[in-house]
Parts: sequence; C-alpha cells; structure tokens
Amino acid sequence: MRKIYIFDTTLRDGEQSPGVNLNTKEKVEIALQLEKLGVDRIEAGFPAASPGDLAAVNAVARAVKNATIIGLSRSREQDIDAVREALQGAQDPCIHLFLATSPIHRKHKLRMEKEQVLETAERAIRYAKQYFDKIEFSPEDAGRTELDFLCQVTDMAIKAGATVVNIPDTVGYMNPQEFGNIFKTLKENVPNIETIQLSAHCHDDLGMATANALAAILNGADQVEGTINGIGERAGNTAIEEIAMALATRPDFFGAQTTLNLKEIAKTSRLVSKLTGMVVPGNKAIVGANAFAHESGIHQDGMLKEKTTYEIISPDTIGLKESKLVLGKHSGRHAFREKLIDLGYELEEEAVNAAFAKFKDLADRKKTVNDEDIRAMLEEKLIDTPEVYTLETIQVSYGNQSTPSASVRIRNAEGEVVEEAAIGNGSVDAIYNAIDKVTRETVELEDYSIKSVSQGKDAQGEVHVVLKQDEVSAQGRGLSTDILEASARAYIDALNRLIDKRKSPGRRDKMSLI
Ligand code: KIV
Ligand code: ZN
Repeated sequence: MRKIYIFDTTLRDGEQSPGVNLNTKEKVEIALQLEKLGVDRIEAGFPAASPGDLAAVNAVARAVKNATIIGLSRSREQDIDAVREALQGAQDPCIHLFLATSPIHRKHKLRMEKEQVLETAERAIRYAKQYFDKIEFSPEDAGRTELDFLCQVTDMAIKAGATVVNIPDTVGYMNPQEFGNIFKTLKENVPNIETIQLSAHCHDDLGMATANALAAILNGADQVEGTINGIGERAGNTAIEEIAMALATRPDFFGAQTTLNLKEIAKTSRLVSKLTGMVVPGNKAIVGANAFAHESGIHQDGMLKEKTTYEIISPDTIGLKESKLVLGKHSGRHAFREKLIDLGYELEEEAVNAAFAKFKDLADRKKTVNDEDIRAMLEEKLIDTPEVYTLETIQVSYGNQSTPSASVRIRNAEGEVVEEAAIGNGSVDAIYNAIDKVTRETVELEDYSIKSVSQGKDAQGEVHVVLKQDEVSAQGRGLSTDILEASARAYIDALNRLIDKRKSPGRRDKMSLI
C-alpha cells in the first residue's frame, strides 16, 4: 500500500492560532509526543521570527531523534541562515522555503512580476541547497495560482534542488475536485515530477481541509501537512488524526496508509489541547468527547447487539480505553500504578509517589477519580515554569445582593507570604484584583475559559487564561475541584510565565511575518 508521509505543523502553523503561544519546554513536550505518534516530519517553528523561536526550534531539533525536523523560512538569505542555526544538532534537518505565487499576492503583497517570483525563489533554493539536502518549497497561495504558472514554478523548484514541493491552499478556497486537479496537472505536465515528493497543505476556511487533502492523495500527493486537532491560522489546518483515520478506515478506497502509531492519537490530542489551551469541540471528528458516544435509544440498542452497527472505528484504535478500575480514596498505590500504566504513563518512582499523593488529595474531595481526572492531574504540571508566586490560600465571599470580595495569601520567590483582599464585579474579578495587589503587576486579561475535566457535580474544573503585558502574552492553566481556585491558579500560572518571559532576553513571541 502507498505510504503517505505526515508532516506535522502543530508547532508552526498550529501555533499561529490566535491566543496560542507555546514556550520552548511546551514545544519540546509536544514534539516528543509527536515522535511517539510516529509523524514523519515535524515543522518546529519559524526561526527568523524571533530569537526565542529560533531557540525553541533548536531545542526540538536536539530532542527529537526519529523524525525530520523542519524550520520555516521566507525566500531570503537571513531567514535561511536562521534555519541553519536553529537546526544545528538535528538528526535529519530540512528547510521549508516559501514564496507567494498567486496573482493577488504577487500584485498586492510582493509587488513582483512572475519572472521576479521565479528568480527570487530559485535564488533562495540554490542558496539553501549549499547547506541542506532536504528542501521543501511552497508556492504560497498555490490554490489561487494560475495552473500553468504553478507548473513553471514546480519545474523551477525541481531544477534548483527542492526535494518536496508543497501545494498550499493558504486561504482555504479550494474544493476537493479543483484541488485534486492541481496534483493531477502537475503529475502529468512537470518534467521529472517523479523525482520529488508532492505535498498538500490545506486550510479549513470552508470546512474542506481534510476533504481537499484526501483529494490530493487520490491524485498523487505523497505527503499531507496538518496539525493535531486541526488547530492553526484562522479556521485551522487539516487535522492529522482525520487523515490518518480516513486512510486507516477506508484502505479499500484510498489504497494508501500512514505509518502513524494510531494508539497515540487520543493522548496527542489531549496534550496539544492542554498546552495550547484550545479546547477540542465535543463533536470534533475522531478526538471529540462525543466521537464515540451514543445517545439515541435505537443506536444504543444497535451498539449492544453489534458495535459495528453504529461505530466505524473502535475507540481502542486511537488509544481510548474504557475505564475498568474505579479509583477512589480507598484505592492503594498498586491500583493507582496499574492505572497509570493502563493510561500510557511511564513515570519514575519519585513521580509516581508525587502523583499518588496528589491523587489521594483529590480522592478526598471527589468520590470517584476517573481517567480524565488522572490525566488532567498528571498533565497539569507537565511543564514546570519557575514559580515566582505560589497560591497558599484563597477566600471568597459572594452573594447576589452584595459586592463580591476575595482575599488571597500568596508566597513569593523570597518565601514571604503576602495577603491582600479586594472587591470586584464578580468573584473571579475580585480574586484577580487581589492577586494584582499582591504582585503589583499590571496585566490585561485577554482570554478566560473554563471546562469540566470529567462528569458529575464534583468534577474538576480546568481554567485557561491568557494574560498580556507590554505586547507579551502568556497563557496559564489551573485545575481544581473548585472553579474559583482553578481560576486563581491559572492566573498565577500565567503571571509566572510572563515574568519568566520578561527575564529571558530571547523571549519568544509570535511575529506576523507571513
Ligand atoms: O498556508 C500556507 O500557505 C503556509 C505556508 C507557509 C506553507 O502555511
Ligand atoms: Zn498554512
């Protein structure tokens, strides 16, 4: 069966999602999970965007051993040099060059004629070829580029030394028939096309990113670019899990397969959601909470008689397991350790002990601790930001006829405990005002969201916030059985990250260079 290469751009195009800003540790954590998932290629970032992004790409390049690591670059020498620096230490480096080719981009953005576009791209590919064996070239906005010019560009890229030509539907304008036809045309008309790989990169503005990428596969694409959970610029990118499962479920139709370790899909999805703060909608294909839930009586009856009546994928295929062991406050270390193994966590003895202590604490507050609780608990502190401030206690007073007030006790880096109280428009506002009084930081709350980690009245709440200070933003997460405590924890987590960024000279923030 034909192999389809998976190029994951969660850390680059995915990170271009509004409000998402991953730090280096988070990028490495996701990259290592992508390696477990078995993606072939990982686009780790855009090194020329900021010194911080360069450092993050370098950290990923050094950490990952079993995937090609890619850095994005405009078609100019400074960017190419930045990618060279960022990919030092990579086992298998690759540069991803791009230049827009569509009439709209040529006229309004680049102010270049076709000839200048060809020359600029060729110069960049030849310059990069001195340093890289593997070069991917993307004619940006290929979907809206004249087909004959796209053939010319592809021909030039092959002659100049590109090893992959990627066809981006940058603005999500294509439909499957048209997009498939681009690949067919390139295959039929460009000399030596069989010497390179063709790749599809789709955006979901019209909800057709996955369908378009599948059409590309049917017409000869060797590689699909996408992100976990389909996150990305605007409406997002092709969701990798959807491509992998479409191919795995319908080999009879597509005759193509990825080599992904499908059992890692659910875990990868959860990690990306957690670290980016982008909640996966319940009805999201493959990884949504409802993707394997059956509500109607007729469906439930069918499921009980024979699962395949209403299920085309077994949840087990993507690494979802039904909970067999119910854990609670009477459970011991043995059952807890078994559960960790069952959920796919390989922890050192010390980490098991710390997790067990946290579990016991949670079990005291919550009757049954289910798989989601354990995952949330373990993944909450996956990334350790230096803790400048730590929440000690919190007290809130609320009545629908009175002004909400809150007091907090917070320990600072020097070990001093400071207590402050404040009022606010609501309980969360009062808590945040009290925290601001302690820290004396002036920050803007850009985003606040809350979700329940599991079901039931005693479910844990997970709060995600984005704070902004002088054009630098940082996200924070907080988890607790009480949503006000979770809110306070998320705010303090984000503050600690902001302070961390301020301290590091090469702090990374997204720059819109594309
Ligand atoms: O969507 C796009 O065109 C891109 C390119 C940089 C490949 O992300
Ligand atoms: Zn893109």
